[in-house]
Amino acid sequence: MLIRKEAGIPPSEITPLTLYLNRRRFIEGAAAGAALLAAPRLGRADTAPAKLQFTKSSISTSEKQTPLQDITHYNNYYEFNTDKESPASLAKDFHTRPWTVKVEGLVSKPGTFDIDEILKQNPLEERVYRHRCVEAWSMVIPWIGFPLANLLKQVQPAPKASFVQFTTIYDPKQMPGQRGRVLDWPYVEGLRLDEAMHPLTLLAVGLYGAVLPNQDGAPIRLVVPWKYGFKSIKGIVNIKLVDKQPENTWYRQAPSEYGFYSNVNPNRDHPRWSQKTERRLDGSGFLGAGRRIPTQMFNGYAEQVASMYSGMDLIRNF
Ligand code: MTE
Repeated sequence: MLIRKEAGIPPSEITPLTLYLNRRRFIEGAAAGAALLAAPRLGRADTAPAKLQFTKSSISTSEKQTPLQDITHYNNYYEFNTDKESPASLAKDFHTRPWTVKVEGLVSKPGTFDIDEILKQNPLEERVYRHRCVEAWSMVIPWIGFPLANLLKQVQPAPKASFVQFTTIYDPKQMPGQRGRVLDWPYVEGLRLDEAMHPLTLLAVGLYGAVLPNQDGAPIRLVVPWKYGFKSIKGIVNIKLVDKQPENTWYRQAPSEYGFYSNVNPNRDHPRWSQKTERRLDGSGFLGAGRRIPTQMFNGYAEQVASMYSGMDLIRNF
């Protein structure tokens, strides 16, 4: 997402992806034998993350899943760093306990919820979703989470509530990226209330059957699979129901490039690159570099979500 000016080329296609893949080739080349390569790559050096209890959802895609190594080492998390590899190490000791999520604003029953209470009260599901970054790469991720609607229903939105604003923790002591001004902190995002209540919209607390790695947004992050990845805000501490469309961090940063809706739309190019295709990082291709595939309207979730935008000009409301 870092603003670079090379015309027509998504930033991810310039250095970060090739650098990442070259390093991975080096590391994998050093690991002896194919058997080692087939073993789960996270957890050899790190302590194994805690497993979660969940049921499998029929909403899941059966497309080939992105290797755990790529999901956990190719991250956008500017609170830690603007590159994609270092959030994994910089977020290693990030404290995810104690952690509360305050839900407030236009609701009848506001509350501050402890993350462990949230986990106890909401049965978890595994949902395998396509995850399309605005930078034109994509993944397939087996998230563990629960519908955001469950939490919103609990606080009872008032009739005037029309939008939901989400805020990430602000903690520069723990998050080195927040000591600089690369973005306007804290990171904020927003959804229309009907988008927030949509059954596809998840609060994720895990992936690949275990607790969410810190670099992926632990202990709780949003997942909105028909929108570009930047809507899926990480490390949430505040959810506020409001009556006006809230600002979001990337819109503030570059309003002509990142709109409020951010629906995946192959017909609406980013001003600096095409959105017609994406590089699917699913371990396929030479050195696991993925493969280029056409991008689908609403990231392939049109059947479920298109009706929310009927009559809207989705080129203007990008
Ligand atoms: N949330 C916060 N708080 N900070 C960020 O920098 N980056 C966004 C989004 N959520 C970001 C964030 C972007 S640009 C993307 S593509 C996704 O997180 C990446 O999620 P992932 O690392 O799980 O793939």
